[in-house]
Amino acid sequence: MGILKIRVWPDEVLKKKAKEVTEIGGEIVKLSQDMLETMYNSRGIGLAATQVGVLKRIIVIDTNYPEDQKNPLILINPVIVESEGEEIMEEGCLSLPGITTEVKRAYRILVKGFDLDGRELEIEATGLNARVIQHEIDHLNGKLFIDRIGKVRRELLKKKLKKLKREEEE
Ligand code: NI
Repeated sequence: MGILKIRVWPDEVLKKKAKEVTEIGGEIVKLSQDMLETMYNSRGIGLAATQVGVLKRIIVIDTNYPEDQKNPLILINPVIVESEGEEIMEEGCLSLPGITTEVKRAYRILVKGFDLDGRELEIEATGLNARVIQHEIDHLNGKLFIDRIGKVRRELLKKKLKKLKREEEE
């Protein structure tokens, strides 16, 4: 297992669309486990392969940790097949360090995908779990949460990101 480097905005890879996984073998298992370790190490609750620079449709999620026991979910080729309701909640992202903002998303979703044994999964999620899954699938499509908010707020947050980046470089 190993900790991977998390790509941060404005890294171009974050805008790219990830490709479907066609075969779940040792390489995908290792990558998924490394992604989980990387996510826990950064105290995140979700991570998409795109964020570690790999354009494959894999997401890992654990909304329990660090408050509770680890309860990881690994989803290969996730697809949202139903969504309903809406909810506005504050969101952050390991690829957008230092900023958070309110984002509107579906409250309940039904998502399909595969686990590491190639078994098909169908998961119903609500609230925070539904939010994180939607956020991570956005990453696989080259979207960040700042692409889901109004233009004025987006420009303000981009300015803040640039300022934080400059401060970090000094
Ligand atoms: Ni994110």
